[in-house]
Amino acid sequence: MKHILLLVLVTQVTFCLSGRVDPLLQQSVKSGHVTEAILQLPQIIQQVKSSPVLASLTGDARVSTLITMLKGLTSAAQAPYLPQLEALGLTYEQYWASNIILVKGLTPEALFYLGDLGGDYELRVQKTVSISPATKVHEEIVPSHKQGIIQWGVNQIRAPAAWNVTRGEGTVACVIDTGVHLPHIALSSNYAGGWADPYYSTMGPTDNHGHGTHCMGTILGIVNGVGVAPGAQWIACRGLDNEGSGTEAALTTCAQFVLTNDPRPNVVSCSWGGGSDDGWYGSQVAAWRLANIIPVFAIGNSGAACRTGNSPGDQPDLIGVGATTTLDAMATFSSRGAAGPMGMLKPDFSAPGENILSCGTAINNYVTMSGTSMATPHVAGAICLILSANSSMTYDEVYDLLGESAARPYVTPADKNCGLYGGDYPNNAFGWGRIDVGRALGK
Ligand SMILES: *[C@@H]1O[C@H](CO)[C@@H](O)[C@H](O)[C@H]1NC(C)=O
Ligand SMILES: *[C@@H]1O[C@H](CO)[C@@H](O)[C@H](O)[C@H]1NC(C)=O
Repeated sequence: MKHILLLVLVTQVTFCLSGRVDPLLQQSVKSGHVTEAILQLPQIIQQVKSSPVLASLTGDARVSTLITMLKGLTSAAQAPYLPQLEALGLTYEQYWASNIILVKGLTPEALFYLGDLGGDYELRVQKTVSISPATKVHEEIVPSHKQGIIQWGVNQIRAPAAWNVTRGEGTVACVIDTGVHLPHIALSSNYAGGWADPYYSTMGPTDNHGHGTHCMGTILGIVNGVGVAPGAQWIACRGLDNEGSGTEAALTTCAQFVLTNDPRPNVVSCSWGGGSDDGWYGSQVAAWRLANIIPVFAIGNSGAACRTGNSPGDQPDLIGVGATTTLDAMATFSSRGAAGPMGMLKPDFSAPGENILSCGTAINNYVTMSGTSMATPHVAGAICLILSANSSMTYDEVYDLLGESAARPYVTPADKNCGLYGGDYPNNAFGWGRIDVGRALGK
């Protein structure tokens, strides 16, 4: 308890001393490295969450009211700052899934005035994330005798048994990543129509990197047994650039796209992150949750030490995913929990993430990759199957079902040392276990 109290005090002192312009930003602007920053205003999502009006609504009416409330509250909070930014000759972009303004064209002179705008705000460096550098890639020609065979990860989580109930029909998955190569024969026929591209403004889905296409293939690809839910449909947002890194602004644009696109996705699969214990994407994720959209994030590839989870995967109120091997052990690279000062359980679940074959960026090619990036879409696909079988299940119900039905492989002493919560399960390596979607659907 003393420890927690101390942490709170230190945080507050740092806040006061750092003033309203983050010193890190000051340095970067002075040295000419940075001309953009985030004007962070107090988040309004708690106010939206506790709205009785919102609680009384369901479906499309609920989501349109949610969006109206988010837009109304953020634009009211942001309005007083706009004339001041304009007076300094600065351009800006406003967001509503998080109460932030992206300020552009910063100079050291402008920064001097931005320290004294009045009200409760902070001007800080924009967050950036990336796909994990631990990802290994090699391209494979699938030999003819192996074509049409179900991939090991899809088999391991027993998706083929679940297919006796459903293949994911009626559900939509969104991948926020480097894009998706639409012409791939495993993906082209189940595109639901929905694409946003804050980086390159292309008219339709493309992927010059390959990471996003690989992830989408694992969720629902229909060729060579790569996909967990081949009956599901997809939309996508390019929140990561061609090098695989993404800014807070781009990823917040994607968060808004998730809420506004028709069709809305049932699940969002995010195989990226950075840093730890960082809640910068919390408002965006909370908005999805209020729209009954299930957020799934990679826990990171910084294992095998304890407390190595990356954000947003290590945050509460979303599903953080660790990676397992063909031998049903935790992958060494998979980040372990616990997370945060309270020792929160992380990851929440684990799924296959080593040597995963999925779609490449040609018409019909296949690539092997490893990482929690590959485990995450296995869970997203499993959620499509579960929601296809019963569309009225809530986040908590899906979470509980994934946990109750999960396999519980052997936990090594080192992984037990990362923290247990009673018996061996749950633990901070596998979470509640390696998912078994066949069992989740009673097969
Ligand atoms: C699923 O269906 C296939 C045939 O379509 C059958 O061989 C298999 O035993 C079934 N599995 C389960 C778990 O029901
Ligand atoms: C679907 O899930 C809801 C919510 O848990 C439950 O009330 C309902 O009985 C389920 N329907 C079926 C057909 O299992």
